[in-house]
Amino acid sequence: MPFSHPDGLLKVLIDEHQLQQRVKELGEQISRDYQGRHLHLICILKGACIFLADLIRHLPLDISIDFMAVSSYANSLPTSGEVKILKDLDSIIQGREVMVIEDILDTGLTLDYLTRSLRTRGPKSLTICSLLSKPTRRIKEVNAAYVGFEIPDEFVVGYGLDFAERYRNLPTISVMTKDE
Ligand code: IMP
Ligand code: MG
Repeated sequence: MPFSHPDGLLKVLIDEHQLQQRVKELGEQISRDYQGRHLHLICILKGACIFLADLIRHLPLDISIDFMAVSSYANSLPTSGEVKILKDLDSIIQGREVMVIEDILDTGLTLDYLTRSLRTRGPKSLTICSLLSKPTRRIKEVNAAYVGFEIPDEFVVGYGLDFAERYRNLPTISVMTKDE
């Protein structure tokens, strides 16, 4: 049964098999890069929760996880990238090897602000792993060490990503299209 939304259909951009395959590859790459080290993963809620859950099962490493919830552009112009921390970390990251797990890198404003803020807490290292990236949308250059898929400038939902809090449960990454 195809998933639909009130205004039309959802067109699959990345299917379940492609997602699982790429997440496994990312896990293998990260495992090679962090072999013998402790890695502290910070999942940015809510969008990255499915990605985190799948990714860590491909990390045969000594890891720990924590969560952070942010809302973009609080009390400011969208282009400032200022984010409001809705839920902060439970953990202290000073001196630790930290990886931020994000669902999508779009303009880059959110991750640019967030990583600058996290760096002030003195982690030993700080890298970014984003499932998706829309390179043509970038306003702030953000150096993500690990990116799952580069996608075109289209609004996508599923596998954790939402539109107005919906569609996070889709097993695919899909584009919202108008029904014709
Ligand atoms: P930024 O533009 O890189 O700051 O991205 C801000 C946030 O917008 C991301 O963390 C996502 O939560 C959301 N976002 C950007 N593009 C999409 C999309 O295509 N679908 C769903 N959420 C998106
Ligand atoms: Mg969102």
